[in-house]
Amino acid sequence: MTTEGKQKALEKVAAEIAATSGGPLKAPGVNPVPGEGNPDATIMFIGEAPGFNENREGRPFVGQAGKLLRKNLTENGFKESKVYITNIVKFRPPENRDPTPAEIEFFRKFLDEQIKIIEPKIIVTLGRFSMYKFLGEGVSISRIHGQLRKINWQGREILIFPMYHPAAALRAGEVMREFENDFKKLWEITDKMESGEQEKPVPAKPEGKKDEQLKLV
Ligand code: URA
Repeated sequence: MTTEGKQKALEKVAAEIAATSGGPLKAPGVNPVPGEGNPDATIMFIGEAPGFNENREGRPFVGQAGKLLRKNLTENGFKESKVYITNIVKFRPPENRDPTPAEIEFFRKFLDEQIKIIEPKIIVTLGRFSMYKFLGEGVSISRIHGQLRKINWQGREILIFPMYHPAAALRAGEVMREFENDFKKLWEITDKMESGEQEKPVPAKPEGKKDEQLKLV
């Protein structure tokens, strides 16, 4: 698809999201936050759900956690204009609570469509919920963050790079250090990819008990 075609297709998805009026998250004052960025992005960041500021602006990651994400992007040589940023759930849950399985399921087709249109090489999952989508619920973020994994997702190969959610980094100094280190790793990986070098992902089915439970979708 051309860039223009991708842009149009993404606008169509955004219109479909808006047309749900929030679906299970429908409430007065709730606005769609479909996602934003480059339709040709090689890296797609997927968070959890919009919060107060995102709901107000209709844009993902514009509050405190978003500022940390965007600062790390820029400091590590990425351009905001080159990536795509979105969430698992496209409307703000009340009181910023975790999204429910039914809400995640309701918005799944929109996110899947965005991924298919953009065809990113790397999906960076921010926090548990987007990590679970690709790697299954048997994985622990503290164990696998910062490890590149190759999976087969809906018939295509995608690299998944799980990271802590920036809000978790804001809450704990140790997590902040890991978050910043992972960003550096991500930059090294993409840098190598651009120069044609292949990064070796962790095997999809590593040995060891826990990972055998990995549900690779
Ligand atoms: N947290 C998220 O997961 N997504 C946002 O867009 C903002 C905060």
